[in-house]
Amino acid sequence: MGLNVIMMGPPGAGKGTQAERFARERGLPKISTGDMLREGIKEQNPVALEAKKLMDRGELVDDGTIIAIVRDRLTRPDTRPGFVLDGFPRTVGQAAALDRLMEERAQGPLVVVDVMVPEQELVKRLGSRRICGRCGTNAEAGKPVCGKCGGELVVRADDDGQVVLERLKVYERATRPVLEYYRARSTFRVVNGAQAPDQVARDMDRMIDDAAAAGGKARVAGESRMSARVAE
Ligand code: AP5
Repeated sequence: MGLNVIMMGPPGAGKGTQAERFARERGLPKISTGDMLREGIKEQNPVALEAKKLMDRGELVDDGTIIAIVRDRLTRPDTRPGFVLDGFPRTVGQAAALDRLMEERAQGPLVVVDVMVPEQELVKRLGSRRICGRCGTNAEAGKPVCGKCGGELVVRADDDGQVVLERLKVYERATRPVLEYYRARSTFRVVNGAQAPDQVARDMDRMIDDAAAAGGKARVAGESRMSARVAE
């Protein structure tokens, strides 16, 4: 049975860091809507360039665009054993659309992990984050260049102080309700993301395995259908 995981949490919670690691260790594709948009911008894709205007202000890209990107990505054969979603869904509309896609796929439970970190710590992390200007990877502590490709380290375009505050506001308004959408499910878990990355990883692995075991396919399909109807 496939393993489908969603990493939820505010900007800077460590979703990308943990999604990357978990996906690599379990041999699953990591699907990050933020990364896909940033790659599209580099390639001068017109849809991504339009999205950039919103991203630079810390606002969300419209559901239609994002859902189409994710739907297309989930049709690729590498997602058959499962996937790790990072940064999607971010609205209740996106969550309901994902449930409909999951029903079509009928491949394993959908495990949802909420990475919780206090706001002060998020602001601190994003204020000091550097990424590789070439490949976009987060910089490793103490390294003067990208550990992956040797590229120069830069500040991410939306890590500017005012934009960070806007992203946090948007998270509270648009994305926090998604947690309520999932909370009652047997596959929903909350991890303390304020711990050191290795400890977050250990807790998360245990929770995901436990949630996957708890989420019988038939039961999750039933829960998903119910939530999708509520959101309509
Ligand atoms: P996106 O790229 O998804 O950004 P985000 O959600 O704001 O998340 P971040 O990448 O900033 O943080 P993260 O939680 O992944 O943390 P990370 O691991 O990097 O989205 C960007 C924009 O794209 C959105 O604003 C929107 O415009 C658009 N978009 C994307 N998806 C969309 C969607 N579905 N709908 C609509 N619009 C969408 O870690 C952060 C830093 O902390 C790093 O420096 C890291 O090294 C460090 N760190 C990680 N873990 C720890 C730890 N445990 N302790 C200490 N430091 C840590």
